[in-house]
Amino acid sequence: MKVDVLLGLQWGDEGKGKVVDVLTPRYDAVARFQGGPNAGHTLEFDGKKYVLRSIPSGIFQQGQTNIIGNGVVLDPVLFTEEARALEASGTDLKNRLKISRKAHLILPTHRLLDAANERAKGGAKIGTTGKGIGPTYTDKTARNGLRIGDLEHNFNEKYAAARNLHLARLKALGAEPDTAQLVQLEKAWFEALDYIREFEIIDSEYLINDLLASGKSVLCEGAQGTMLDVDFGSYPFVTSSNTVCAGACTGLGVAPNRIGRVYGIFKAYCTRVGAGPFPTELFDETGKEIRDRGHEYGAVTGRERRCGWIDLVALRYAIMLNGVTHLIMMKSDVLDTFDEIKACTSYIVDGKPTGHFPFNAAEVKVEPQYVTLPGWKTDLTSITSEEQFPARFADYIAFLEKELGTPITIVSVGPDRTQTIERK
Ligand code: GDP
Ligand code: IMO
Ligand code: MG
Repeated sequence: MKVDVLLGLQWGDEGKGKVVDVLTPRYDAVARFQGGPNAGHTLEFDGKKYVLRSIPSGIFQQGQTNIIGNGVVLDPVLFTEEARALEASGTDLKNRLKISRKAHLILPTHRLLDAANERAKGGAKIGTTGKGIGPTYTDKTARNGLRIGDLEHNFNEKYAAARNLHLARLKALGAEPDTAQLVQLEKAWFEALDYIREFEIIDSEYLINDLLASGKSVLCEGAQGTMLDVDFGSYPFVTSSNTVCAGACTGLGVAPNRIGRVYGIFKAYCTRVGAGPFPTELFDETGKEIRDRGHEYGAVTGRERRCGWIDLVALRYAIMLNGVTHLIMMKSDVLDTFDEIKACTSYIVDGKPTGHFPFNAAEVKVEPQYVTLPGWKTDLTSITSEEQFPARFADYIAFLEKELGTPITIVSVGPDRTQTIERK
């Protein structure tokens, strides 16, 4: 058996949570492979809305194992908040969720360092989610990290060493916490660790490979999006993990030849939250209309998302990097009222035409080149099959498939689980 991977092709918030929830019944297990509580994955069903941050979006379906993989960074306090809320609403979490021994822990001081680093950057700040993601992955790579499995061996000693290192760094940044503040943060953190100990802590690489060997199927859930990948995104305005498909291999211990389908998910337009280049960003009424109609405000931070037209240069790049086999288009309904819809098919960078996403998109002049398509001016939200698509919407899909060279196999027309159309 193979693992299928579902990941974002843009700057995050494409609707990964919704689609993972819809696809989960076809799989035996769902696994998160990178990122942490910087993610906010929204699911809606039976008139209720849930936002997941560290827990895989397969958690609401019955019968699947959900796995937090080694590539994930876990904040015990935020995890506990999220998990307890799910337990309170009747989800049988402890039987469904397993956590990798090798997943790294976000310490209270990682969050303080995230804020201090951002302050130190001044006008060049990234606009992080403030969840300690960068400092935690930095410690992982610098070999200073603490992992879930460390809870089993000399934990207090390891914690004290990491904390002291962080306090020295914070002091250098002029951001030392006062003792009372730190004591309070640590109290909540250690209490949360006690709760985590109630979960099954596993060697998830063995579990996943054993599942595959016994003919079971696994869906891997990405967080963030390809344009936020630490290697291939719009660096330095990126997150600190590999969000691309290869991240599923390293973040779960799955060999490359075990990857099956790669579902690449994108919005019918584009959004970005935080700083950094966004070639097709709209600063006018149209951008505002997309934001209002799409409720484009961060699921985690509540920040306004920047909005713009779909960017096919960035999408082709993302499809290439991930080996996307199946495209999924989200939030089509948001464009229902528009007379015209634009799509960026190429750029002019510093006066030269190109189909490549530039190395230093923040520092060069990028002029998106658009084609204009007629809007479908039809409410898509209650459509249930592809036969009911208005002709102009079908044309938009055909146009995108031709430009992207990859089939669009699922189209989403609203936030609810049921507002999902599979194409033949
Ligand atoms: P994720 O981080 O990729 O899981 O995406 P988010 O949950 O951060 O953002 C997607 C938002 O769009 C959420 O509020 C979803 O409820 C919503 N959403 C998902 N699909 C659709 C859709 O097809 N139409 C509309 N109108 N909203 C959608
Ligand atoms: P999901 O999984 C959108 C952005 C932040 C910031 C940059 C770095 O819900 O799609 P970080 O806190 O990771 O160090 O911030 O990345 N960012 C996201 N944007 N969706 C996300 O996750 C994001 N996670 C991080 O806004 O620009
Ligand atoms: Mg999100």
